[in-house]
Amino acid sequence: MKNYIKPEEWNIIEEGFDPHLNKISESIFSIGNGRMGQRANFEEQYSGETLQGNYVAGVYYPDKTRVGWWKNGYPDYFAKVLNAANWIGINVNIDGETLDLNLCKVSGFKRLLNMKEGYLERSFTAELATGKKLEIRSTRFCSIADDEIAALHYQIIPLNFEGILNIISFTDGDVKNQDSNYEEKFWDLVHGTYEGDTSFLTLRTKKTAFEVCTAVQTSVLKNNTQLRLKTGEAVNDKYLCYTVSIEVKAQDCVDIYKIAANLSSMNYAKEALQAESAKAISRASQKGFQQLLADQASAWAAKWEESDILIEGDVAAQQAIRFNIFQLNQTYTGKDARLNIGPKGFTGEKYGGSTYWDTEAYCIPFYLSTAPAEVAKNLLVYRYKHLGKAIENAEKLGFSHGAALYPMVTMNGEECHNEWEITFEEIHRNGAIAFAIFNYVRHTGDETYLQEYGLEVLIGIARFWKQRVNWSADKNKYVMLGVTGPNEYENNINNNWYTNTLAAWCLNYAIEAAKIVETISPADYQRIIAKTSLQREAEFADWKKVADQMYFPYDEKEKVFLQQDGYMDKEQILVSELPATERPLNQKWSWDRILRSVFIKQADVLQGMYFFEDNYDLDTLRRNFKFYESRTVHESSLSPCVHSILAAKLNDEEKAYEFYLRTARLDLDDYNNDTEDGLHITSMAGTWMSIVEGFAGMRVRDNQLRFHPFVPKQWKSFAFTVNFRGTTLKVNIEAGKISMTNTTAKTIEVMVFDQVYEIPQGEKTMTYELCV
Ligand code: BGC
Repeated sequence: MKNYIKPEEWNIIEEGFDPHLNKISESIFSIGNGRMGQRANFEEQYSGETLQGNYVAGVYYPDKTRVGWWKNGYPDYFAKVLNAANWIGINVNIDGETLDLNLCKVSGFKRLLNMKEGYLERSFTAELATGKKLEIRSTRFCSIADDEIAALHYQIIPLNFEGILNIISFTDGDVKNQDSNYEEKFWDLVHGTYEGDTSFLTLRTKKTAFEVCTAVQTSVLKNNTQLRLKTGEAVNDKYLCYTVSIEVKAQDCVDIYKIAANLSSMNYAKEALQAESAKAISRASQKGFQQLLADQASAWAAKWEESDILIEGDVAAQQAIRFNIFQLNQTYTGKDARLNIGPKGFTGEKYGGSTYWDTEAYCIPFYLSTAPAEVAKNLLVYRYKHLGKAIENAEKLGFSHGAALYPMVTMNGEECHNEWEITFEEIHRNGAIAFAIFNYVRHTGDETYLQEYGLEVLIGIARFWKQRVNWSADKNKYVMLGVTGPNEYENNINNNWYTNTLAAWCLNYAIEAAKIVETISPADYQRIIAKTSLQREAEFADWKKVADQMYFPYDEKEKVFLQQDGYMDKEQILVSELPATERPLNQKWSWDRILRSVFIKQADVLQGMYFFEDNYDLDTLRRNFKFYESRTVHESSLSPCVHSILAAKLNDEEKAYEFYLRTARLDLDDYNNDTEDGLHITSMAGTWMSIVEGFAGMRVRDNQLRFHPFVPKQWKSFAFTVNFRGTTLKVNIEAGKISMTNTTAKTIEVMVFDQVYEIPQGEKTMTYELCV
């Protein structure tokens, strides 16, 4: 755990330069706009530890799978989001000495991420070996207002010398991924060229043949006078640069502006990429850096209006929740149903930038409440578009008749993961995808989603579960053998309670969704029946039979749902008995020891109780929570939020807050010692859930928003905004009272504890006393 980020409500601040923290800061200070993103690498040369990262959404490379013992059914490749052309490069050379923070004395170093207005700023004074001192200040952002554009301003002020400043402003496409399986580079050059002050570098990904044109317009000014730039010598075939030599004396001011456009063949014809990039550059440069920055601030103001959470009385918590929301909004903007949310977003290479069940299980609730419905809908449509591939994927494993198994990890619908216990066995992901459809319809009330897209997906998933179970004559029930639950510290287990519960629910929900579509749109119903060759009566009867006769392991002695068959055979030790020196288990114990132990990586039974909470009374929840929480090591960042929400439901406010803290500052304080690899973007949505579903107790039930709030004693109050079926509700919670402002012209009915209230149209704030 680190503690170097200065708490401030709207800013993330690092003061003083510590090279050991650089990779962590590069992750934390990452910027993005849903279409592209980058780590907070330095513009100038840096010979110290760094992970270079520039990413373009949706552009990936299928890196050949590396695996020792091949199993039939393994995917051939692991899709990887690529480290793309580095457009920020600025080499600064003073009379032959190069500015490199690893090689000079640095003072007054400050890195600041302004979350309110969406930019990254850095300033410092460097003293070179010769004693020459210069002051540097840089600002950059990826535009949310125009997501093809990014821009930077880099200012150099010599402090104590006269001399020649040589600037090389470059774009370098000769980059690699640190996680490349065979040390291969993933880009080929298509074309590099200059037009006046703008360079155009077009690269093509090997194998997938995506093309990306990175166009950069550069201007350099000395004391506000524009200087003439020359094109410089390339250091490799994917390198374009402008150079300028400037005679400077102390207190002169050199300003470098770079405006970049990153356009890909996902959105434009390859032949048109350069011309379209030129248009984007001209559009942006007409505005100029300052106006682009002002547009960025307004675009972020609009985002914050919908998604901010205000916490009074705890600056560290305020900073943390804004950081999480900021990163989620930088990662996904919901404009394009081909894009999704990698567990690290645009902040690192880990997890390949691919899609996991994290999106459906954790991210959907955040976007449902804080953005227009299309944003969450596009995440669902992403899976709809992959349905054909999910059916093929199931066929490869021996399933038939339109059964769909969605991949554990994917970029384009194909499975990328190649550990048999996860690829073939962690099949609960199928259930999370179905649950997300239910969650979307529950929140938005938009049942037309089912007729347009949802029902087909649910039919494929139901068919999979029907075929995946088998009848146990011994148990007189349907059982599900050879699975891995969310707890990846157990593999190849039988009857994972969570998976069986989810499967039974999916089978019932598919039937219910079919009935809804039959009622609201008979023509679509017929179309879907024909398209999926659904044998309605026979298949529904089969699905119902499996759901009704599913086996759910239960322990009579403890009166808890049993995580899986045989769980009680394990030596029952609690996490509290584990010495701190043995944790995290995944770094201290052999895999063999982990698998045989009772310890649980992340919410498993409790994940199911969270999804289907209405099925269980509080005593049942309390017993299961007590039993499983004490055995859970939370070695996935996705775990604490579910525990926080359930603890809140059990009125255990302290525990709810304790778990919340573990998710909220996970990256800012580098809790798990892995922030340098990138941020835990998907678990950030869990932090939001801990506040809104946990502390505020918000639920959607029977077409109504319900609240069951408390305020953690460390806070004075908290407030958030919810979009719900055409209304926008601002909710403010203090100890003992909750006030709501309906900012839209539609009255909304809400429930607070057991009382129903009408919140009328207009900007009226109403206050209610709580009845606990
Ligand atoms: C978790 C998975 C998760 C993945 C990506 C793993 O450590 O166990 O549940 O999908 O990380 O976040």
